[in-house]
Amino acid sequence: MNTAKPIPQHVAIIMDGNGRWAKRQGKERTEGHIAGVETIRRTLRAAAKQGVKYLTFYAFSTENWGRPEAEVNALMELLCKSIICETPALKEQGARVRIIGERSRFSEKVQHYLTQIEQDTAEGERITMVLALNYSSRDELRRAMQSIANKVKEGTLAVESIDEKLISDHLDTAFMPDPDLVIRTSGEQRLSNFLMWQASYAEFYFPEVLWPDFSEEDFAEALEVYTARDRRFGKVK
Ligand code: IPE
Ligand code: IPE
Ligand code: MG
Repeated sequence: MNTAKPIPQHVAIIMDGNGRWAKRQGKERTEGHIAGVETIRRTLRAAAKQGVKYLTFYAFSTENWGRPEAEVNALMELLCKSIICETPALKEQGARVRIIGERSRFSEKVQHYLTQIEQDTAEGERITMVLALNYSSRDELRRAMQSIANKVKEGTLAVESIDEKLISDHLDTAFMPDPDLVIRTSGEQRLSNFLMWQASYAEFYFPEVLWPDFSEEDFAEALEVYTARDRRFGKVK
């Protein structure tokens, strides 16, 4: 009998609670985001150690542009800085970075760094770290639909061949399997426009802990909860 516990192949995380964490400490919201980068680092290591192959982080939603300009600017700076600082360690641990989301809205500088980190880590085979940036599920579906409609218009795609796989293949996430487990920290229980198509059969886990405090033990706990779940996919056991 195989007693090995199933490890989720793909874990997707909605990192939430940076602002509340900072507020509790009497700090600026930005300090919470800075602390959150450290959590990304430690969670990636924990996931790689556990054998997770894809780890997706929801880092900036299409709606997050609506935050105060100073916070948005600070997040962009933090993104560039983190890419510079983290790239050597990512390469060293065999992590490959992929970006999902629509990039053209970012400044040229940010776009440059995004391309750079994808290129620099392209050889990584141990784990794929996916960053969702200027991402939302509805925007991703909009772009996929435009692309499919264009192919139909050009005559390279028949309407009858639009099936679920073809739609999945036109999403930003086409290179990876659907998430098995979605974690959202800070106690909020919503998707906030994240991987709505892909998470159709994901398991959900909503720990109360704020993202900067999310520990390796919290991650292990999430995997344990996942392992105890009964995934039926609409069928009868
Ligand atoms: C998540 O933390 C980080 C981003 C959305 C960039 P928040 O900034 O949303 O933290 P809260 O929800 O205000 O505590
Ligand atoms: C979701 O968090 C987006 C990211 C984690 C990047 P938000 O804090 O922006 O979501 P809402 O506003 O609480 O739904
Ligand atoms: Mg939030």
